[in-house]
Amino acid sequence: MAGKIKRQTIDTIFETARIEEVIGEFVQLKKAGSNYKGLSPFTNEKTPSFMVSPAKQIFKCFSTGKGGNVVSFLMEQEHMTYPEALRFLAKKYNIEIEEDEAESPEEKIALNERQNLEVVSKFAQEYFSDSLLNSDEGKAIGLSYFKERGFSTETIETFQLGYSPDKSNALINAAKEGQYSIEYLEKAGLIKRSGDRQFDFFRGRVIFPIHNLTGKPIAFGARTLKSDTKTAKYFNSPESELYHKSKVLYGIYQSRSTIVKEDNCFLVEGYTDVISLYQAGVHNVVASSGTSLTADQVRLIKRYTSNITILYDGDPAGIKASFRGIDIILEAGMNVKVILFPEGEDPDSYARSVNAETLKEYLKKEQVDFIVFKSRVLQDEAGDDPVKKAALVRNILESIALVQDSILRSFYIKECSRLLDIEESNLLIELNKFLRKKQYQKAGQVPPPDVQIKATQPARKKENKLSSQLLEIDILTKLLQYGNQRITIDLLDEANNKSKVDSSIADYILLEIDNDVFDFRIDGYKRILDEFRSIEIENTPALQHHFLNHNDEEIRSLTTDILISPYELSAGWKEKHRILTEMEDSSVHVLKSTIERSVFAYKLRNIELLIQEKEIELKKVYENSKEDDSYFILLDEVKKLDKARIHFSLKLTRVFSH
Ligand code: CTP
Ligand code: MN
Repeated sequence: MAGKIKRQTIDTIFETARIEEVIGEFVQLKKAGSNYKGLSPFTNEKTPSFMVSPAKQIFKCFSTGKGGNVVSFLMEQEHMTYPEALRFLAKKYNIEIEEDEAESPEEKIALNERQNLEVVSKFAQEYFSDSLLNSDEGKAIGLSYFKERGFSTETIETFQLGYSPDKSNALINAAKEGQYSIEYLEKAGLIKRSGDRQFDFFRGRVIFPIHNLTGKPIAFGARTLKSDTKTAKYFNSPESELYHKSKVLYGIYQSRSTIVKEDNCFLVEGYTDVISLYQAGVHNVVASSGTSLTADQVRLIKRYTSNITILYDGDPAGIKASFRGIDIILEAGMNVKVILFPEGEDPDSYARSVNAETLKEYLKKEQVDFIVFKSRVLQDEAGDDPVKKAALVRNILESIALVQDSILRSFYIKECSRLLDIEESNLLIELNKFLRKKQYQKAGQVPPPDVQIKATQPARKKENKLSSQLLEIDILTKLLQYGNQRITIDLLDEANNKSKVDSSIADYILLEIDNDVFDFRIDGYKRILDEFRSIEIENTPALQHHFLNHNDEEIRSLTTDILISPYELSAGWKEKHRILTEMEDSSVHVLKSTIERSVFAYKLRNIELLIQEKEIELKKVYENSKEDDSYFILLDEVKKLDKARIHFSLKLTRVFSH
């Protein structure tokens, strides 16, 4: 890569490139009128929302909002820089690139920086290899250590292992002799400075080079051979223009072709795990060494396969790391399995303790899907404690909610139900709560504020009961009549930025009332509400039919009552209970504010009821002159509730005045 691409060349590229052809290589496009449609490459959607316009030479992704021309597509999809995208297109369309000699100053600096770091890294890798294989010290200390560990000569070559002599200036002197830049050796972390003195940072250590996808060394891990605990076992290269550790996987260069062939990638923790498995014939293995697994690393694997098997130690730290990893992998729309190793063994030690056959057999036999793995681990932890058990179930459901394929999700729910011996419908209710929350959080949004206080058994008054009943019927009516329709909801994030989310009315209502405070008080109605919670609205187009033909007699008859004779509300009641019934105008705007009114009125009433209940309790505690903690806790709860009350009454006033 050299100078800046000439304006003329850029124009030619834009004139020649056909966006539908370029994108067609990444996305299956279908003709739709004068445009093309396909599944967005930026999400894991199931209905196409990605559009390409040949006439305008632009694309638009309606699920992420991304859009632009052919160059912005390549930058977005392939993470190319602007000049990289132009060069890619020039090559595809056989356009000769004319360049100005001068580059932009920033480009020149960044490019220079990377190239210089590449040069010194290559030099250092060759120097370390040479000292390992050809120097007396290297052979006596480094090579014999690797041999003791069971690494073959072939393995040592494949991974370009090395040795850094136990002198403070061995690498420095070799660099000076070869006229390599000491400045860049320092930037690459190979040389450190203390005062005026410079020294080889990795001295006296064996070296594990880290390669990028094209096989260039970009960083190093260096293991000490001394057993004293004063010095860290491993030193690793610092971040640089060349090495971003969260985007790199150890072993990916050596393993990538086998990952494709096997359509699976084993994920381990460290250098030695990768090497030992590789030597035992398991070539599709990488490590996230130096960091806990990141989304970028998972995306790197996704280029080659959508199946990952995590191989971590069975100790608590390893298990914790695997839990985090599982969720990151699921979120990327990939499948994840887990293999646990016997107590005290890691993949490296286990691979060395058995023969290759046994190892492969073990990997095949012991891999379990993440649900089985999580339930085993958490069940051991929870024992018979019901509170811990509930947390366990939630923990697993949260992972299942990350799975994007709904068929796979229901399969996992079945499995979870079987393993934990919990009714599927109960799991579905909880799962759908997480799914709704996630839907709102997708674009970095926070779900509507909710109050997390448990309702106590109240001494209800008749009047309260009546209004609760009306409000619950009102909510159910809206769910049954309009549940499938979609509305756009305005959400505010923490920075008060407004954004719009598309949602079914049922999902919107359920999300708003999904917590203890707002659960229904009347049993029969609560059963209908729970049924709403347990179904996937998108997959239940005939909502009313679903409830009217339900095999539960009570659900059937209550639904019929609600639908057939909508409660006639007198004008006075409307006022009093803040219910509006005019639903005739079907315009989306009116529909939306009608739904909001119902929700806010319902929430407001419930909060008011709770406040009443809490105040009665508060009085009791006070009268018993127990001004202890429980009093202040209650007081605090009432304050929080009052804040929520004000919040919703303001909202309600606002919708009323629309
Ligand atoms: N690791 C690291 N930094 C450390 C410790 C470990 O990066 N301070 C990574 C390395 O990639 C290493 C892996 O974790 O390969 C496993 O750690 P460990 O078993 O402690 O390293 P080994 O070199 O295998 O040491 P031992 O021979 O004692 O098992
Ligand atoms: Mn080890």
